[in-house]
Amino acid sequence: MSAFYREKVLSVHHWTDTLFSFTATRDSGFRFLNGQFAMIGLEIDGRPLMRAYSMASANHEEALEFFSIKVADGPLTSRLQKIKEGDTILVGRKATGTLIADNLIAGKRLLLLSTGTGLAPFASLIKDPDVYDRFESVVLVHGCRQVSELAYGEQLVAKLRDDELFGPLLADKLVYYPTVTREPFRNRGRITDLITSGQLFSDIGQPPLDIETDRIMMCGSPAMLEELRQLFEARGFLEGSHGEPGHFVIEKAFVER
Ligand code: A2P
Repeated sequence: MSAFYREKVLSVHHWTDTLFSFTATRDSGFRFLNGQFAMIGLEIDGRPLMRAYSMASANHEEALEFFSIKVADGPLTSRLQKIKEGDTILVGRKATGTLIADNLIAGKRLLLLSTGTGLAPFASLIKDPDVYDRFESVVLVHGCRQVSELAYGEQLVAKLRDDELFGPLLADKLVYYPTVTREPFRNRGRITDLITSGQLFSDIGQPPLDIETDRIMMCGSPAMLEELRQLFEARGFLEGSHGEPGHFVIEKAFVER
């Protein structure tokens, strides 16, 4: 048995000159937990070229979805950005990752903190009914340099709110907070600063950070993740992992090339 499923590309959407998303068929044997990642790639000269990608689709959905950067000289993304409907991609058989609800101690508010394509695992998690059972409030924060980079997340949340099934479920629970660092927008600034200053919480009209109630998942730029880790640890939050749940869990956004 091959280590990879061969899946067909169903659709490709280019959001900016550096961001695209695509959907693909999903083998009925491919199981994953929302928030996990798998190895995704292309066969190049008869050999697999694979990188870790978080599933942006939820595990109840029939198709797979991924959200990717494009890097002109990136070994995989320079090629992957050219895929078209009907092309074949490779999907590793095993999904894994730390951004799963079981790695967190029970809490009341779930903060999902992301930059760039680090949004992908949260695109999956905010479509998971179990997340809304576990938490009273889910705050999705997405930080980007430019407003145009928010489009994927904006459309995702708008679609969910319009969804017959999900709309009512998340109406009072999901708060979406996009923020931009390098041009004017209604929310400005780095996620680290927005948390330290308390601006994030005042903007969404919710209580300040509280270790008793807040649980955190984060995914995105390595520099941000390191700063957030220090920020939360300094406040007594503990990192969770498989078998040892904590107050926060971390995953870096993988594909840099
Ligand atoms: P900034 O524009 O101030 O660098 P990138 O495209 O470099 O991965 O960045 C994505 C977003 O993450 C940008 O808004 C960027 O802000 C922000 N960012 C980068 N490094 C950090 C950090 N150490 N802490 C918080 N936010 C960061």
